Amino acid sequence: MVFCYDTAANLLARAWMIARSTRVLMVMRSSRPETILFTGATGFLGHYILRDLLARGVRVVAVLRPPMDEAKARLGPMLGAIGLSIDRYLSDGHLVLAPGSLPDALPEPDWGRTDAVLNCAASLSLFSNGNGEPFTTNVRGTEALAEWAIRHNVIRIHAVSTAYTCGWLKGAIPELFHCPAPQFQTDYERSKWQAEAVLEEWSSWIGHSLTIFRPSFLVGDSSTGHTTQFAGFYQFARLVGALKERFAAKNNGKRTYIPLRIPGRPDDRQNIVPVDFVSRVIAEVVTRPEFHGRIYHLTNPEPPTNDMMKRCYEDYFGLHGGSFAPPDEVIGKYNQAESMLWDQYHLITPRVIHNPLFRMDNTREVMEATGITFPTLHPERIFMLFDYAAQKGWGKGSNGFHH
Ligand SMILES: NC(=O)c1ccc[n+]([C@@H]2O[C@H](COP(=O)([O-])OP(=O)(O)OC[C@H]3O[C@@H](n4cnc5c(N)ncnc54)[C@H](OP(=O)(O)O)[C@@H]3O)[C@@H](O)[C@H]2O)c1
Repeated sequence: MVFCYDTAANLLARAWMIARSTRVLMVMRSSRPETILFTGATGFLGHYILRDLLARGVRVVAVLRPPMDEAKARLGPMLGAIGLSIDRYLSDGHLVLAPGSLPDALPEPDWGRTDAVLNCAASLSLFSNGNGEPFTTNVRGTEALAEWAIRHNVIRIHAVSTAYTCGWLKGAIPELFHCPAPQFQTDYERSKWQAEAVLEEWSSWIGHSLTIFRPSFLVGDSSTGHTTQFAGFYQFARLVGALKERFAAKNNGKRTYIPLRIPGRPDDRQNIVPVDFVSRVIAEVVTRPEFHGRIYHLTNPEPPTNDMMKRCYEDYFGLHGGSFAPPDEVIGKYNQAESMLWDQYHLITPRVIHNPLFRMDNTREVMEATGITFPTLHPERIFMLFDYAAQKGWGKGSNGFHH
């Protein structure tokens, strides 16, 4: 990452940026809507954020990967499914669609001034797969956006990261940049940490303001169950459903008995968080300058325990026979039923034995100030999420295990 200025130019740039940051705050308080360059609008989280920003009167320039006809044809119905018609916003100019992609093809602005960048695009590949991802989009893409911001005098960057930039760190994880770099479980985590590091450097310039959002594992809408992504939580539920089908015998009663060791402790927790909660907090923070400049853990303040999730799976699919066991006794030594679950799920089993507690002080402050409450994931809500995904065939055709 290179932000090279000679000393005099640097001082001038800083003075200019301070002046500009004052002007930006004045503009934000005036009637001109703030214009945000937004990446990732066609993604799971991105389309919720787009809806929530437009609803708050923000003008959004959404960077979509070409071909534009195809991208627009996806975006419209996606937003329609969560209650927003994009046509009105396109015609009144609050939504501008700009072709572009990370890292090499960001658009040159022909929409007037940009007040902030919000980067939600990412590659969710857990491990490098020979095409440079997840590093090309996540790290080089972030560098490109930071450079774009400098070139176009944009002094605010908001970025969506992940709670798991903490890697293997244990205990209470602060809403701070993790330095030095932790040990990571996946390339994805490393790439997201590197992206944060790039932005930390960018934010060390006087006048630059950086806000980072770190969600844990996203699940569907807390009221409707709506999701466009069927990895992780859903993938596992689909495997449990397949297990039930495989072992259900006609004479096996209502609940199928399947002896199964579950690697993990019953009281450990699974940090899943509904997408609408995450997008609402992001939209509030982005539109309130007093909340800028911090890191937010958008995590579950009371995550379901492994034991509660086990009961949810058992009740939903009609199963019994599962029991918790120490991971080192189970992993790699599977019986037939266990291998159906854990062989398939091995990429994320580290999370079964890694249970950080995410501090949420900054997020709680926003929740208190804005009246946002966390939609508790009690069993009925989990069943509603399962019902929605089941109706959608558990995302048949979606490709699995990303974060
Ligand atoms: N899902 C989770 O559980 C989770 C948890 C924690 C953090 N996050 C973070 O939340 C953010 C959104 O994730 P998501 O789950 O909504 O992901 P997603 O559904 O896979 O969406 C990814 C978005 O990024 C765009 N994109 C990918 N590569 C790009 C590139 N090279 N140039 C431009 N756009 C590109 C995609 O565009 P196309 O539609 O053209 O592919 C899509 O709009 C990411 O930063 C992710 O790291 C997600």
